[in-house]
Amino acid sequence: MSSLYDVIPPAAGADVPVRRITVEVNGESRTMDVEPRLLLVHMLRQGLELTGTHSGCDTTSCGACTVLVDGRPVKSCTMFAVMADGKKVETVEGMGTASELHPVQEGFKQEHGLQCGFCTPGMMLASKALLERNPNPTEDEVRWALSGNLCRCTGYQNIVKSVLWAAEKMRNDQPQEA
Ligand code: FES
Ligand code: FES
Repeated sequence: MSSLYDVIPPAAGADVPVRRITVEVNGESRTMDVEPRLLLVHMLRQGLELTGTHSGCDTTSCGACTVLVDGRPVKSCTMFAVMADGKKVETVEGMGTASELHPVQEGFKQEHGLQCGFCTPGMMLASKALLERNPNPTEDEVRWALSGNLCRCTGYQNIVKSVLWAAEKMRNDQPQEA
């Protein structure tokens, strides 16, 4: 068990209540003591040092902090860590490895879907969730699924192409029925 009690500034006084939560993060069960006010994004970035989850606006606008909670995209700047108790959280660190990229990551590489990369983790997780529920999306459906994620570099065209590339690869990788 690790405690996030004293890593989130300002350090909480002894009278501040904490709650013990257990969250499955990228397939690993993590038990932590957290203050009820702690946001999920801060639990991930500061507590678990999963800094691939970015914090852009802190106001639910940009989507840079998007993670998957039980498979659904969630803006982690607007969810308290205690709300993730008992749930599965996936961050960009859980998507693939350097030698074995997730098809969505591969798509962003193949189609040059990133510039500065700040929005990219959130874009990729929102895309993964889309392709899991809709393996063959239209361009409009991709744009709609990513409408909560802003790219300040404005490279939307290549982001959409990246997701469509990943969708095709995932369909092609499916075992064919006999
Ligand atoms: S940091 Fe969460 S939506 Fe911008
Ligand atoms: S690639 Fe820079 S914000 Fe999207």
